[in-house]
Amino acid sequence: MSSGDELADGGADDFELDASSAPGGIAEGAFGSGTEPIAGGAVTTERKPRQGDEFTLTIDAFDARGHGLARSGPYRFRVQRAAVGSTVRARVLRRRRDEVEAVAFDVVEGGPHAVRPECAHFRACGGCSFQDLAYAEQLAGKKRLVESALHARGLLAHGIAVEEVVPAPRIWRYRNKMEFTFSNRRWIAPAEPEGVDASFALGMHALGLYSKVVDVRACPIQSEIADAVVAASRAIAVERGLSAWDLKLHAGLLRHLVIRRAERTGEVLVNLVTSADAPELVEPFARELAARVPGITTIVQTVNSRAATTAIGERERTLLGPGTITEELCGLRFSISAGSFFQTNTLAAEGLFEAVRQEAALGPDGVAWDLYCGTGTISLVLARGARAVVGFELVASAIRDARANAERNGIANARFVEGDVLTGLSATSGLPVPDVLVLDPPRAGLHPRVVPSLAAVPARRIVYVSCNPAAAAVDVAAFAAIGWRLARVRPFDQFPHTPHVETVLTLERAP
Ligand SMILES: C[S@@+](CC[C@H](N)C(=O)[O-])C[C@H]1O[C@@H](n2cnc3c(N)ncnc32)[C@H](O)[C@@H]1O
Repeated sequence: MSSGDELADGGADDFELDASSAPGGIAEGAFGSGTEPIAGGAVTTERKPRQGDEFTLTIDAFDARGHGLARSGPYRFRVQRAAVGSTVRARVLRRRRDEVEAVAFDVVEGGPHAVRPECAHFRACGGCSFQDLAYAEQLAGKKRLVESALHARGLLAHGIAVEEVVPAPRIWRYRNKMEFTFSNRRWIAPAEPEGVDASFALGMHALGLYSKVVDVRACPIQSEIADAVVAASRAIAVERGLSAWDLKLHAGLLRHLVIRRAERTGEVLVNLVTSADAPELVEPFARELAARVPGITTIVQTVNSRAATTAIGERERTLLGPGTITEELCGLRFSISAGSFFQTNTLAAEGLFEAVRQEAALGPDGVAWDLYCGTGTISLVLARGARAVVGFELVASAIRDARANAERNGIANARFVEGDVLTGLSATSGLPVPDVLVLDPPRAGLHPRVVPSLAAVPARRIVYVSCNPAAAAVDVAAFAAIGWRLARVRPFDQFPHTPHVETVLTLERAP
């Protein structure tokens, strides 16, 4: 998968920490009693770690959620807010058998890979969690994640080595899309005075505190113009007294601000998500925003009156400009609307897709099936060097976008089939027989019945794109069980400062 929407607002954990462990840190010793310190990485007590116990831990790796890993005696600790190589004081949140979850509240020593975070909101914001870890170590850790997932399924037994992670072309200002949340519950930094006004925020959910929003003043992974849009939107909303959404009461007008900036054309789309149409409030807001940030090329309003916090709404209307922006990727032009899926790191996606093209190795007579094709990006990249490509996709609007993208780029040898990969592949008569299968499934990986359903397809290669090494390992093992072998593993970093890693896995028929 390569959805890239992982950073769309949040990345916050799925539970709330109590107030005493909220972002911003806690003075060492705040939990006084019950401390059972670990010296030099070894548990010095017989008692099992309990909630509230404090330990000193040295972090040697990170897991798929970006939590630091430390081993101590019989226990494996997963430590939130702890960078690889650092030694931290951490407090136990919970324990299940020999797995202990903890949260770091003080850094004893930053370690050899520590760097100064770029962002003023680091550790408060639930977004990128690795800004204090040197980029080379981020890449090394991502490689270890892929290795350990494949190793756990016995897939690296035949001399197959995971290649070095290909770095992102740019590690700052790389995202072409960000989604911010309006809230009437601003997260308050520990240094702020008591009684400070916290009734309005526009930003990202606080790390571990989903109900609070960090008022983001600048975000170094989005474009400079996107920073200007956030600042102007906040100012206009406050000046005009517009209400921010209340997560608990389900009231308030402003819900989300989604900003997309096409890397290649510089066009900017702003999507204001509101709980009601309220044209008398929203239209002047849009006019004012366009006047303050002249680089905006289109503004759209999405109405979502439902309680669920999502930027996907019941209806959408264009307030300014054409309602879409155009992006270029791998020499192709794509039209992106507020609701379309599009790769969020344009430059890095090009590297990933080029690798898919190389691994597919289609000649002019080659045929590929692109399963889970989304809006057809991979299909269209492959179609230029092949006889035919067929994309399969569940979502009707994505299929419409894929067909329009093919037409826009004058590509006539790609066709798109709407339906569920699980059931739809039985009705493929009349379609060209594939030499290569490309699979780019959602994060959870393939439904267990998909692999057997592909057993009769006479492809010579499978190129599997995954954003979830653990799920990819399960699926590759299932292919191995029906006569395929893993031939190459190429990880790519699409999202610097996050734990996410994208991997292109090539499978061939076992001899
Ligand atoms: C990771 S995205 C693929 C993105 C695409 N390769 C691209 O770069 O634009 C996974 C896609 O699988 C689609 N999908 C999810 N379940 C599906 C299913 N059962 N059958 C077909 N498509 C499915 C999703 O709608 C989504 O577009």
